[in-house]
Amino acid sequence: MHAIDTIHSAVTLRNGVSMPTLGLGVFKAGSAAPCIDAVFCALQQGYRHIDTAAIYRNERQVGQGLAKWRAEGHGEGSAFVTTKLWNKDHSYEAALSAFERSRQALGLEVVDQYLIHWPVSGLRLEAWRALERLYEHGVCRSIGVSNFTVRHLEELAQHARVMPHVNQVELHPLLPQPELVQWCRRHDIQTVAYSPLTKARFLDDPVVLEAAGLAQKTPAQVLLRWGLEQGHVVLPKSTHPERIAQNAAIFDFELTAKVRRLLESLAQRGERTAWDPTDVV
Ligand SMILES: NC(=O)c1ccc[n+]([C@@H]2O[C@H](COP(=O)([O-])OP(=O)(O)OC[C@H]3O[C@@H](n4cnc5c(N)ncnc54)[C@H](OP(=O)(O)O)[C@@H]3O)[C@@H](O)[C@H]2O)c1
Repeated sequence: MHAIDTIHSAVTLRNGVSMPTLGLGVFKAGSAAPCIDAVFCALQQGYRHIDTAAIYRNERQVGQGLAKWRAEGHGEGSAFVTTKLWNKDHSYEAALSAFERSRQALGLEVVDQYLIHWPVSGLRLEAWRALERLYEHGVCRSIGVSNFTVRHLEELAQHARVMPHVNQVELHPLLPQPELVQWCRRHDIQTVAYSPLTKARFLDDPVVLEAAGLAQKTPAQVLLRWGLEQGHVVLPKSTHPERIAQNAAIFDFELTAKVRRLLESLAQRGERTAWDPTDVV
């Protein structure tokens, strides 16, 4: 496994692109100053990866946060940016146009990662062809999918020229999705954990609190460290500077076997906090 011992730890994707293991999520970070401030604050604290999407309606603010940070002397390539194609843009031409809108809003020449946000029925293969073209033209450095189940990935494997470099799905101790994670691992697809803090819904769960107490860390930190130790990239969202810092202080400890067992005991709950793609045909 790759080393996960500094805030700049990164995984190497199948195509050689380096992707930082800690990314700031900006879903519901808003479309105004708080989002710009959160991005700038995270970058100043050492985050090197921001995860947004067209549907979050804050790509422009992410771009402004990045620009503010770059004005301090950091180059364009020094932070990794992911954005995503929204469901209404799944035709081939619409996907190409949507990418261009996202790229301009972000203010980037090249986008580090572009994902299909959701496996839209009947259209996802066409959308994937558009992402392959963008990748082959060099305007995004990696491409991937989000919310794809094993079934959706197996379908894609029948048609793709380039298999996804990542699959971004909900992953945390209450929803570890072992079958999907194994499938991705076997096919060299990096797993990216969204809602790694369970949207804060289970941070006060007695088992999570016990694990945090034993580790002498906060509940958020043990959940994020669990994600890193599973080999996932993790994307905690916060707009509060002190939480942005807390969520990054996860590289100087390891979970003990006892803490890991406690967290593993949560798997049976199967708690999904975001949307469920299981039945998408
Ligand atoms: N691809 C997809 O379909 C998809 C779906 C969902 C999410 N995502 C991505 O994954 C990112 C993270 O997921 P998420 O936003 O759903 O949820 P999350 O990161 O699991 O949880 C975010 C919530 O936890 C709170 N929080 C953050 N740090 C905390 C801490 N240290 N202590 C206590 N509370 C804390 C945040 O509040 P404050 O902001 O007030 O601190 C917010 O309410 C998203 O922002 C997005 O980039 C992708």
